[in-house]
Amino acid sequence: MDTVVQNPLRTLIDPFGRQISYIRVSVTDRCDFRCFYCMSEDMTFLPKSDLLTLEELDRLCSLFVARGTRKIRITGGEPLVRRNIMSLFRGLSRHLDSGALEELTVTTNGSQLARHAQELYDCGVRRINVSLDTLDDAKFREITRWGDLSAVLKGIDAAQSAGLKIKINAVALKGVNDAEFESLIRWAHGRGMDLTFIEVMPLGEIEQARVDQYLPLSQVRAQLLDSFTLSESNYETGGPARYVNVKETGGRLGFITPLTHNFCESCNRVRLTCTGTLYMCLGQEDAADLRAPLRASASNELLEAEIERAILRKPKGHDFVIDRATRLPAVGRHMSVTGG
Ligand SMILES: C[S@@+](CC[C@H](N)C(=O)[O-])C[C@H]1O[C@@H](n2cnc3c(N)ncnc32)[C@H](O)[C@@H]1O
Ligand code: SF4
Repeated sequence: MDTVVQNPLRTLIDPFGRQISYIRVSVTDRCDFRCFYCMSEDMTFLPKSDLLTLEELDRLCSLFVARGTRKIRITGGEPLVRRNIMSLFRGLSRHLDSGALEELTVTTNGSQLARHAQELYDCGVRRINVSLDTLDDAKFREITRWGDLSAVLKGIDAAQSAGLKIKINAVALKGVNDAEFESLIRWAHGRGMDLTFIEVMPLGEIEQARVDQYLPLSQVRAQLLDSFTLSESNYETGGPARYVNVKETGGRLGFITPLTHNFCESCNRVRLTCTGTLYMCLGQEDAADLRAPLRASASNELLEAEIERAILRKPKGHDFVIDRATRLPAVGRHMSVTGG
């Protein structure tokens, strides 16, 4: 006789037995920066009329919470440039208050953080990710094209003063920030922040060939051994980063290696875009449209059925390749669409 798997909480479980407990929500595809590895300088963004309202995003997030999501990360594009975005944080904080949600967090470029840090904390946000690839003014401009490093540093100051714990994410970029890894580590750890390096991923068309940007983190790690003593850490966030402790700084260093080490077997997440498209994997094209069932009915029945069907299609993993022979990106959309 077949064994019937009981699931009284109606949590979402994919065909590989992975429970979906984490959703990343890209609330806008727009950004006030144009990081050269993320976007082309001349981007065409979605018309505003295609976007879900903040109330609709709240409804979708709340449904995922009801179905077992314990962690929500708000991302983008740059999430803090979306008008009235704090109302979404305020609304979702009710799930923290009720205990249904464990963590509400955000990934930001930091440009608007000085304005919003205190309110984020007041909404129950405790840890945030700030993306920062260099501490050099001119390089920062070169990487982000439009960004201002001093605004980001002020944002980081404000966030720490408000009591937010910060993790810095830095993309390792060949020939761009590779001379700076040691100083980034000393700076972040000196301020009590974790730091994670990320391998560049082949997402979306940009001006430059990916292979010219890509720096395997195995190489970075070997290079760091000249300056630091690294020991394996069993620290786990449920995310893709693998951590080491740095003896000289007493801090923690993460590596996100989608290219050199595939981490899909423990993937517990799905990604929702600002138009209500649900991606079951960052590196695959398959998606489900949740906007139509969301708007078709005030009840959640159609929506839940669509989400359940989508989770059953969650693929085993991505298959990123960056080499001279592979010219096309793994997927056509940019990271700013799906949300990093
Ligand atoms: C798309 S951004 C969205 C949130 C916010 N704008 C920020 O920069 O933190 C999220 C993260 O994705 C990273 N990212 C963007 N494009 C990438 C790519 N092609 N490969 C690897 N990381 C990328 C960024 O560096 C950032 O840390
Ligand atoms: S990485 Fe973030 S800040 Fe940079 S262009 Fe992409 S969305 Fe904007």
